[in-house]
Amino acid sequence: MDSLENVDFIQGDFTDDKVFQQILDKLDGRQPDLIISDIAPNISGVAAADQASSMYLVELVLDMVRQVLKPGGNFAVKVFQGEGSDEFLRDVRTSFEKVVVRKPDASRSSEVYFVAKGFKG
Ligand SMILES: C[S@@+](CC[C@H](N)C(=O)[O-])C[C@H]1O[C@@H](n2cnc3c(N)ncnc32)[C@H](O)[C@@H]1O
Repeated sequence: MDSLENVDFIQGDFTDDKVFQQILDKLDGRQPDLIISDIAPNISGVAAADQASSMYLVELVLDMVRQVLKPGGNFAVKVFQGEGSDEFLRDVRTSFEKVVVRKPDASRSSEVYFVAKGFKG
């Protein structure tokens, strides 16, 4: 797509340390007010494997959030309910003042959104 004004775009595998570092370099020490993640693996069709892959990705996102988000900042992440999602919710709750779980009416899969406000830093 065409570039967008005031938007930096990084294309790569988020599980790759080099890509993670590219994001950190782009931030250059600045702390975002908000991080939104819609990351989800390509579905293999093997439900248990897909759920594990999905949880791995959002755990990496939470790791980045804890490294860079501004104290008091907010985080929204899509999560597929299933093995590991309750533990992940508990983990997110330890780092934020308030976390709510939301599911849009239009959503027909097991996805939910964790909306976390007030990063404790
Ligand atoms: C639900 S889609 C996001 C759709 C996006 N919100 C949009 O409106 O186009 C999930 C995205 O996560 C990406 N993804 C999956 N694994 C990834 C990884 N390891 N690194 C980076 N992106 C990944 C997929 O390529 C896909 O584009």
